[in-house]
Order: sequence, then structure tokens, then C-alpha cells
Amino acid sequence: MKAKLDQIRERAIAQIKECENTDKLNEIRVGILGKKGELTGILKSMKDVAPEERPQIGQWVNETRAEIEKVLEERYAKMERLVREAKLKAEVIDVTLPAKKPEIGHRHPNAIALEEVERIFIGMGYEVVEGPEVEKDYYNFEALNIPADHPAKDEQDTFYVNGDILLRTQTSGVQVHEMEKGKLPIRMLAPGRVFRADEVDATHSPSFHQIEGLVIDKHITFADLKGTLAEFAKELFGADTKVKFRPHHFPFTEPSAEMDVSCFKCGGTGCRFCKGEGWIEILGCGMVHPHVLEMSGIDPNEYSGFAFGVGLERIALLKYEIDDMRLLYENDIRFLKQF
Ligand code: DAH
Repeated sequence: MKAKLDQIRERAIAQIKECENTDKLNEIRVGILGKKGELTGILKSMKDVAPEERPQIGQWVNETRAEIEKVLEERYAKMERLVREAKLKAEVIDVTLPAKKPEIGHRHPNAIALEEVERIFIGMGYEVVEGPEVEKDYYNFEALNIPADHPAKDEQDTFYVNGDILLRTQTSGVQVHEMEKGKLPIRMLAPGRVFRADEVDATHSPSFHQIEGLVIDKHITFADLKGTLAEFAKELFGADTKVKFRPHHFPFTEPSAEMDVSCFKCGGTGCRFCKGEGWIEILGCGMVHPHVLEMSGIDPNEYSGFAFGVGLERIALLKYEIDDMRLLYENDIRFLKQF
């Protein structure tokens, strides 16, 4: 009997070690240890064995069974490991591949230009302030010498929230807010978004930005205005920049002017950039109208001042030589990255 058991064990172990897949292994297990398996068959035939031999044979059978089970388990474990290793090899991760870079955007040309303008005026002692984009008619028009039937209201048609409240068409209303605070002197710069009922094209947008400037103090003259804005132009466009003031009309300044700068491309001789003019229009300005001062509670006999308004997009387009304003609003990162 012992020899038979040894034979069964040797054969089983040899089969198991050769076995390459789990289905086959299951078959082997059932063939030996299953209900109708070889080893089970021996246990069943115990009834034919002499009673005194039964314990000894029972022990051999159990030992054989335990040994076969141990080898089986090892084989199962090894197969599992092989399968896992093969799987890992198949889905290998190359840690040396470059990682996906997160897109972090880029500063907008408007923002870069605004920072430059703010830097220049802060250097001259100006304070940067803000006003509301949704504004009362009074601040946007009335207090700036533009009463109900003034033709300037046609040129600056806008979006009305109701008859009295509108989206501001200019940052000039911030002048009024600052003057009403009653703290003098004033040296302010007020950048912000403005709105007009305009169609979109290369030079127009229903929403754009302006930078307003206001200085109020005793003895402020047109010479202060010219000196300040000439210095601004030099800082922004280069030390050789010349300025020219052309008479103009704004309802809230008297006298009023538009300022041109000498073309920073050709130096003033005329080129494609300045359309042969040699000069580029840059801003509106003037001495604050006495009536505007009075309406905001400032005595025009004691105080005077000057104001100016610059289009931020205009500065950005010129400085970075962009020929279509719409590019500024498309937020295409490939465009923005160039500045
Ligand atoms: N607000 C004017 C506009 O939108 C620009 C302007 C002109 C502002 C002259 C001023 C100024 O402060 O003095 O056309």
C-alpha cells in the first residue's frame, strides 16, 4: 500500500510541476483529490483493510494528500504570479516620458499696457481709483456738462438699465465721484471698462477700456497739462517722442485738445504705421470746465485743474503693433503669448 501511495504522489507531483494553466491544474486536482479521485478511492477501500492496519494506512493517505495539496498550492501561487507579471509587463509605464504641462494662460496686452501707464502716473504722485461700470446718467453725462438734449449723448449711445441708470460710456464720471468726496488737491488715475452701442469692427467694440486722469489744485494751468502729458508720452513711447496739441471740443473741458505723439516708428517723417502723417492721435484732454467744478462743489475761483482720457486698447494696439482690436477679445492663448 505504501508503495502505491508513493507512486500516486510522485506521479501527481510530476504532473503538477509540468502543468502550465489553471484549468489543467484543476483537472489534476479533481483526478486525485476529488470525490472520484484516486486518493479518495483508496480511502473508500479502507473497509477491505484489516482493522489493525487502518490507522497506519489512514495516516499515509493523509500525509500523501497533504503533500500533494502543498505542491498544488505552490503551483497555483506561481501561476498567479506569472499572470500578474505578464500583465504588468504589458502595461508598462514609461516614467521618462515628458509630463503634460498645465495651461496657465498669459497676461493680456491690455493688462500689460495698463500697468505701464499706472507705473508712469504713480511715479508722478497720482492715486489709482475706480468707479462703477453701471452708472447714473448724472455722473456719466449731466455733471460733465452734457444735459438731456446735448448732441454728445447721441455720439455716446449706450445700454440703459432704465431711464436714469446706464452702462457708462466713459470713465470721465469718476472725476465727478472724486470731486464730490471734497478732498483736495486731487491727482487721480481711473482705469476701467466702458460701453457703447457700437458695432464690432477692427477699431470698435461695444465694450472697451479707458484711463481717466484728473488733477485739481490751486494754480493749475494748461502748462501743467502739457508738461505732464509730454512726460507721459516720453515714458510710454520713448525719450525722443514729441507731442502736439490740436484744439478740440469736449463738453467738460475748456479749452479742450487732442494730443498727438510723433510716430515712434519713423520718428515723424511719415510711414505706413502712422499712415504718412508722422503723428498718431493718442488722447483727449483739457482744463476742467468751471461749471463742472462748481457742480461738484469746488470753487472755480480758488481751484483749477486739467483732465485727460486715454483709450487703453488704443495704447495696447499701438505699443504692440496689433492691427485689429478684435484680436484683443478672442482670448486665443497663441495670440496672447506673443506679448
Ligand atoms: N471721455 C472722453 C471720451 O470718451 C475722453 C476725454 C476727453 C476725457 C477729454 C477727458 C478729457 O478727461 O479731458 O471721448
